[in-house]
Amino acid sequence: QVYNDYFFDEPAWNTHDGGYVPLEEPTTPQQKLHVPAVLQPDKETDTDMYYTVTAEEGETQLLPGPKTKTWGYNGSLLGKTIIFKRGKTIHITLKNDLHELTTFHWHGLNVPGPYIDGGCHAPVYPGESSDIEFVCNQPAATLWLHAHPCPSTAQQVWHGLATPVVVQDDVESKLPLPRNYGVDDFPLVLQDRNFHEDNQWDYKADYDPDGVQGKTPMINGTINPYIDVTTQRIRLRVLDGANRREFRLHFNDDLEFAQVASDGGIMPEPVYFTKVMLTCAERDEFIVDFGKYHDGDEVALMSDDVPLVHFRIHQFAKDETKLPDHLVDQPNLTVTPGTKTRHVVMSGMDEEVAIDGKKFNMQRIDARQKVGDVVLWDVTNTNDMVGGMIHPFHIHGTQFLVVSRNGHAPYPNEYGWKDTVSVNPDEHVQIKVRFEYTGVYMYHCHIIEHEDGGMMAQIESYDPDHPKTYKLMDMDTL
Ligand code: C2O
Ligand code: CU
Ligand code: CU
Repeated sequence: QVYNDYFFDEPAWNTHDGGYVPLEEPTTPQQKLHVPAVLQPDKETDTDMYYTVTAEEGETQLLPGPKTKTWGYNGSLLGKTIIFKRGKTIHITLKNDLHELTTFHWHGLNVPGPYIDGGCHAPVYPGESSDIEFVCNQPAATLWLHAHPCPSTAQQVWHGLATPVVVQDDVESKLPLPRNYGVDDFPLVLQDRNFHEDNQWDYKADYDPDGVQGKTPMINGTINPYIDVTTQRIRLRVLDGANRREFRLHFNDDLEFAQVASDGGIMPEPVYFTKVMLTCAERDEFIVDFGKYHDGDEVALMSDDVPLVHFRIHQFAKDETKLPDHLVDQPNLTVTPGTKTRHVVMSGMDEEVAIDGKKFNMQRIDARQKVGDVVLWDVTNTNDMVGGMIHPFHIHGTQFLVVSRNGHAPYPNEYGWKDTVSVNPDEHVQIKVRFEYTGVYMYHCHIIEHEDGGMMAQIESYDPDHPKTYKLMDMDTL
């Protein structure tokens, strides 16, 4: 079966928002897609990996003419791809070479909160560094690192503080999937930016409380990129790294492609599409088979009617590999008897955004859940302003399973691990949530300006036998 449907409610697409900024095809020449280098570990042993991740300021040649002032991790814009091998103990030195405070949030990583997780309670001050250590124990997946200082997450991500993180394991490594990084396996960080005078970005000038947008697509920090296709099959690890924008992906000739992974790893079965929509912070891994094209052909991955990436087809060896119908066994989660369904309500737009009628307060713990328990969460988008919008709901420090949308089955690509699920206006989405570690974790809308605007709350995952207290930051102390 091949799906030809974006599934999300069409009247709620961001294209209907009064402040919507449509993408425009860049008029500058195509450039080879920037493939972020793999971050080399400072040291690696059989059991441990050591990294240094530095947030820094720099300049990047994005357009002809003056360079753009940008921020990045171990580079001037975005960052290098960071690889964690499952089972290893990971040691990371987090260095802040910026002129302001930042935090290093591992989006999608199952780690203890709130300090290792790197949300707003784990500041690293300018010129300083801090060390974290954790065991990587989750399935192979494409995750990401981004800044998360409240309430300037949106601005820091806009400047460029976001980079792919790849977890590897020996289940994924046995599947017949392309994994030759930079040759047939590419991260694609989808973003949008606005260029002002002298090719500079101006977050304040473009500010919109419902999320900042730009008319120019930027992919891995490349404007108008192309990929040289030299193998029949290609794997794309796509991240919606935009502050606000949804991407409605399709090829210009409606080429069919397969999704093999969602946020938290390989899905139980591949799902075939000609169209798929990604909302903020979601990751989808696609396998694209270019078998029907010939040397010299070109095909483009689009969002709505604007090309994001051009694929230039070259000679390639015939590849008969078929994706298996079954990829991985998906563990199910059984709701722990005696637990109560947790209701979470996302409401409002603009400055009115809230969760359960409240604005985020860094010092308030809004909910508690026993570590290891599986609890049903029922997440509603009340759509109480005209038109309504889709809110991508994200929880830190865990991967969850989607149970239903308004009592109906989830979308066909929502049967694997997820850490972000988008909720249509007037919809309630049920998910099964388990925390494997104790800690304080944030949950929020991943339209980053909504998050900064207070559509965020926090939950403590606790162990009744080992109560803990946490030093929670205060906005004023930032
Ligand atoms: Cu991508 Cu609070 O996170
Ligand atoms: Cu997160
Ligand atoms: Cu939102």
